[in-house]
Amino acid sequence: MKVQGANVFITGANRGIGLALARRARDLGAAKVYAGMRNTAGFSEPGLIPVQIDVTDEASVQAAVRAAGDVTILINNAGIGAVKPDALDPGVEAQSREMFETNYFGVVRVTQAFAPVLTQAAKSAIVNVLSSVTWLPAPFLTAYAASKAAAWSYTNSLRQTMQATSTSVLALHVHFVDTDMTRLFDAPKTQPDDVAQQTLAALEAGQVELFADDTARAAKATLSSEHALYLAPQPAH
Ligand SMILES: NC(=O)c1ccc[n+]([C@@H]2O[C@H](COP(=O)([O-])OP(=O)(O)OC[C@H]3O[C@@H](n4cnc5c(N)ncnc54)[C@H](OP(=O)(O)O)[C@@H]3O)[C@@H](O)[C@H]2O)c1
Repeated sequence: MKVQGANVFITGANRGIGLALARRARDLGAAKVYAGMRNTAGFSEPGLIPVQIDVTDEASVQAAVRAAGDVTILINNAGIGAVKPDALDPGVEAQSREMFETNYFGVVRVTQAFAPVLTQAAKSAIVNVLSSVTWLPAPFLTAYAASKAAAWSYTNSLRQTMQATSTSVLALHVHFVDTDMTRLFDAPKTQPDDVAQQTLAALEAGQVELFADDTARAAKATLSSEHALYLAPQPAH
């Protein structure tokens, strides 16, 4: 699927990975780049069309579909992250509900709302921004990891659902990226522009999954091993 000439809608495109994806899509020659965001006030970026969308709000999502009824590439990027000390912390249940509302139900809600638009195009695509934490236990990220694992599962069901349609489905798996979400973490981070470049290149190459850094690649590569990273996490190399 070529980005050039496509109409791209990205959720959470006012900052971080979403903004990098929007800029990259514009620079690759997308016909329209709809930058979805909760608050459009004051957003101004050449070539990007701000569209209000809160992925947790059905009415907001439906209004976004009406505002962008010609989308051919949907990128489910909006997400939230937060930490708790570990999996036994009493706050994990409430935090999980909050994470799932955005990171899982948000993806389902936005995908289902845009699906009729996407499937009417001759060629279209959905990109879901997931995480290596799907396969890497980090107790402080228990709730976030569960929500991303659920979104990964949905992505796989969605890919099979869409097989008979014009819509392809790409999953992006990446470890730490240098955005507001990880500003408190002292760890190696990939730059958002790098992730955006790789993601849209993977989309154009027809890939169904992208592992955008060494940690994500290692997490997937060891899944069938006795020493799978999810059983015994080790530093990435
Ligand atoms: N950074 C990482 O290390 C990393 C790694 C793997 C995957 N990811 C995933 O990458 C995606 C983007 O994260 P990021 O690192 O760019 O984080 P970020 O800088 O914190 O940006 C998050 C974006 O999501 C938006 N958002 C949050 N809740 C929303 C909602 N209910 N409706 C619409 N938009 C909402 C935010 O909007 P506001 O400005 O209104 O808050 C913001 O635009 C997320 O799905 C995240 O889980 C991040």
